[in-house]
Amino acid sequence: MRKNIVAGNWKMHKTLTESQALTTEIRGVIRDEFRSNNAEIIICPTNLAIASISKLVEGSGIKVGAQNCHFETQGAFTGEVSATMLVAAGATHVIIGHSERRQYFNENNELLSKKKKASLAAGLTVLYCVGETLQERESDTHWGIIEAQITEGLAGLNSSDMERMIIAYEPVWAIGTGKTASADQAQEVHAFIRNLLDTRFGAAIAENVSILYGGSVKPDNAKELFAMKDIDGGLIGGASLKARDFFDIVQAFA
Ligand code: 13P
Repeated sequence: MRKNIVAGNWKMHKTLTESQALTTEIRGVIRDEFRSNNAEIIICPTNLAIASISKLVEGSGIKVGAQNCHFETQGAFTGEVSATMLVAAGATHVIIGHSERRQYFNENNELLSKKKKASLAAGLTVLYCVGETLQERESDTHWGIIEAQITEGLAGLNSSDMERMIIAYEPVWAIGTGKTASADQAQEVHAFIRNLLDTRFGAAIAENVSILYGGSVKPDNAKELFAMKDIDGGLIGGASLKARDFFDIVQAFA
């Protein structure tokens, strides 16, 4: 059975102290108000806060993820952090291939495939992001783009790797713009991705991989999105920086 998942991507927001305060607040509302709804909760702060936050969430069921990693375990790569280091700091998840990494840091499917392999080898679960730009959607080339992101990005992975793989569909035009894909638009792409997974890995794997939607998810649209057959949760940016909004999105599964 695939899991319902709500993950918060804090991006380059919050200092260590602010991250600790937000985590304590999220932990507090979850302890006081969480109605069991089988949703897994993941928060992805700055790397600087991972070690501290991993301790703060102990016993709460909240998981901690990173937003990126290097594909080597160690070496002369100034400024980089390896998957092994993230695991040692307490991370269980890592986001790979976020559109901001693709766009601003020139990360392509081939590089992302290496990052995924390194992350899986280190024991992390990968949240792999795919999604088209506005121009690609408007020119109707988005299907090919997403297909390449899935097939090239998952190259060399086997069925057991897919047990620790979560896909996030994040249309670039919906990120931070307040413009959400409609539930039907998102469902259409999620079904397409699941179909690609079926072709590549078979029906059992395709059914078991959680596919999250990301892009302006808010408390008032989460329920409609998460109700769709192939949408198994969300990867949340802006709204994950407010404990109440993030929690209300989690509760969309209740
Ligand atoms: P917003 O929720 O702010 O649109 O960001 C989505 C996102 O990029 C999550 O990774």
